[in-house]
Formats: sequence, C-alpha cells, structure tokens
Amino acid sequence: MPKVFCFNDKFMVFIVTLLITFNVFPCDKTYENLQQMGFLEIENVDLLRRDYTGLYREYDNFIDLIDTDKEFFSALSRSEKEFVIDVDNCVRYCAAPPSYRNPNLHSKKINNRIYFQYIKEHYDLIKQDYPDVLQKSGCFLNHLTLVDQISKKYFATIIASLESRCPGITKIFYGNNKELTVVTKIVRYQKTQDWHEKPHFDKSGLTIIWDNDDNHQSLMLCKDTKNPTRAGLELPTRLFAESINSTSALLIGGLCLKALSYDIKPTLHYVGPIKNEYRHSVISFLLVPGIDTSAMQTEFIES
Ligand SMILES: [Fe+2]
Repeated sequence: MPKVFCFNDKFMVFIVTLLITFNVFPCDKTYENLQQMGFLEIENVDLLRRDYTGLYREYDNFIDLIDTDKEFFSALSRSEKEFVIDVDNCVRYCAAPPSYRNPNLHSKKINNRIYFQYIKEHYDLIKQDYPDVLQKSGCFLNHLTLVDQISKKYFATIIASLESRCPGITKIFYGNNKELTVVTKIVRYQKTQDWHEKPHFDKSGLTIIWDNDDNHQSLMLCKDTKNPTRAGLELPTRLFAESINSTSALLIGGLCLKALSYDIKPTLHYVGPIKNEYRHSVISFLLVPGIDTSAMQTEFIES
C-alpha cells in the first residue's frame, strides 16, 4: 500500500514556500488551448499518485467519522454556519460556501455523491474555534490545505499568462484580497448505471480538475466550446496520465469568464458511469469574488 502522507503545518509552509520559488509550468499557450481544445492539460509535479491515494483514504475515514460521531458532525455544521454569517465571507464565497453534503443526511437532489468543499478561511476558523474538529479529522484537512495552496500557485501562473489576452483578469480574480478565492472540492461518487453528472458547465471562472481514481475513464469534455454538443463529449487526450513522477490535471473554463465578457467559453463536461464501487475526485474552483452566480444556468440544454 502506498504511504499515507500527513502534513503538519510547519512542513506544509516549508513545502509551499519551496514550490512558490519555482515557476509551475510553462503555459504560454493557455489561452489558445482553452479556445481551441476546451482544456489545457497540466503536468502536476507537486501531487503524485500516492498523495491522492492517501487523500482519498483520509476522506473515506472522514465520511465514516461523520456517520458515527454526531458531536463531530454537529461541530462541523456549526463552523460552516459561523463562516457564512460573516458578511465578507458570504460575499466572497457566495457561489460555493464551505459544506459537507451527504445525500443520506440532506434532502438534496444530488443522490449519488458525497462531497466536501474546502475553503482556507473556513479551515482557519476551524483551527481557531473548533480544535476538536481539526484533531479528529486527522491529516484530512491539512492535506486539503496543501492541495488548496498548490491550486493557488497554479491559478496565479495561469491568470498571469492570460493577462495579455484578457486585460484586467488578474485584478478581477484577486479583487481586494491578497489571495485568490478558491474552493477545493473532494467528491466520492457511488456506483450507478446512470450518468453521475449531467453534461454541465461550472460556475467558476476557471477550474482545475486535479485527479480521480478511475484511470481517467469517466471524465469527458467537449473540445468545441463555441458549439458544444452531447455528441462531442469525449475523453480528453492526456500526455501525463501514465507518468511516474507527475500526475495529469486539466484546466477548463467556467461560466464566470463568459459573464465578464472575456472570450474564453466555458467547457462542457460530465462524469460518466462508474464501474468501481466508488470514484473519488478532487477539483479546485477559482471564483470571482463577489460575483452573483445564482442565476447562471449550469445544465446543458441542447438546442
Ligand atoms: Fe463540473
């Protein structure tokens, strides 16, 4: 079994500082790739297969903990409510507040996946006001903190490369904040014969789909962002799927860029039927702070 990595705070700060010292990846063609292919494959040298394997196992334990420890779940839920009561947080993360959602616990129409949305500022609140939640979560929340930090580094490089073609985009994504506004979501899908997700667009500005544990056999997208169709949905070609020293991540566009009139169309995508009992995935969404996305139509309706 691969080693499960546990990142304490000091080690994490050291790693992130080290990573920020270096450029992430050359992405001069980011704009062209998003325009012409609907995605950009990123060679992720910061998170390897063993890291994701550890993260998914920690998430399974987190779900078990919630199912068995009512006090823990109650405290986690209180922390979520406390986070959104803050007006600044509410405005900034209005599109995707921190939340744990299990269809067995919530009457949501989404019934085949359990997800947790990580937000750094929510993590800070947990750390300060709910130490028991942090302690009982083991390495899980710290591990997501690392993924979130890495996502901010990658997003920063990406938007810098888009600035010449999309003037003002850096300012829009940062707003008045020192850090980018990112939600990192981890999902556990459960087996079904039906499609797990309908073809849809993300509400984000940009999305990095980091990983899944089904050998990239379920996530499909449509390269034609100008005229997306269901028939055009296909597995994206990946160069780094088999790499030992890196993993393959995908950058796609979301609805916010279109709403801001930038010429990067959102990418139609979906997750198809899963053969295994579970499918785990981790994704980071770069939000535009303060933008109201409530009226955005994410579901794809073919004309
Ligand atoms: Fe999506």
